Amino acid sequence: MLVIVTKDYEEMSKVAAKKVAALIRKKPNCVLGLATGSTPLGLYRELIRLHKEEGLDFSKVTTFNLDEYVGLPPEHPQSYHYFMWENFFKHINIDRRFVFIPHGMADDIEEHCRWYEEQIAKAGGIDLQILGIGANGHIAFNEPGSSLGSRTRIKTLTEQTRKDNARFFGSIDQVPKYAITMGIGTIMDAREILLLASGKAKAHAIKITVEGPITAMVPATIVQMHPRATIIADEEAASELSGKYEG
Ligand code: F6R
Repeated sequence: MLVIVTKDYEEMSKVAAKKVAALIRKKPNCVLGLATGSTPLGLYRELIRLHKEEGLDFSKVTTFNLDEYVGLPPEHPQSYHYFMWENFFKHINIDRRFVFIPHGMADDIEEHCRWYEEQIAKAGGIDLQILGIGANGHIAFNEPGSSLGSRTRIKTLTEQTRKDNARFFGSIDQVPKYAITMGIGTIMDAREILLLASGKAKAHAIKITVEGPITAMVPATIVQMHPRATIIADEEAASELSGKYEG
């Protein structure tokens, strides 16, 4: 696992964008796994800039998002569909037909999850999966205790995650209780993983993820087992690491 420590959030975002852009240039029809949340916003901003100023071409790129809240329609301002279109997709030349995000209003959620896995396989698998990390070490909505071999499925959100996300909803009561999420096994099938972390609130999670034992109680620790995983953490997020890592 490669750990890159950057000065700040801006630099973390730029280093990540460089990696993503290099892949798109090398393989224009690549398959990206995408995350929502605050962390990848700077990465998306930089990719939009590269599209507008340097013609980075997304027309053949396929994307699969990690997760979506159950019960929120795509047009709901807190849905991950809405988030992705507002913050990224509407600013680039992505083909709508190549965008996949789990559907929070699916009638048969189990069937939908199976379908989602099938679409990933049909697309040839994910080339590069972008991840954020929860303060409790979750990846996507795989909360502590999630099976390390899990596939796309419905999960109950922990109180901590609902608290963390309440800032987007106004109050914790409005945060949905369930989400559809790619599983840890699904994430680990990606050919490459890029986990981003910024800020003090992530310092402990990053320490355990990089230096702790692999455990389902901190799902991100499984990334240690991935043959091509990079963590890009800014100085604050890396502040509890005891080893020396690439600057
Ligand atoms: C979002 C996701 C979550 C976030 C994590 C960190 O699609 O899967 O695991 O990556 O909760 O969120 P932020 O970046 O808002 O701190």
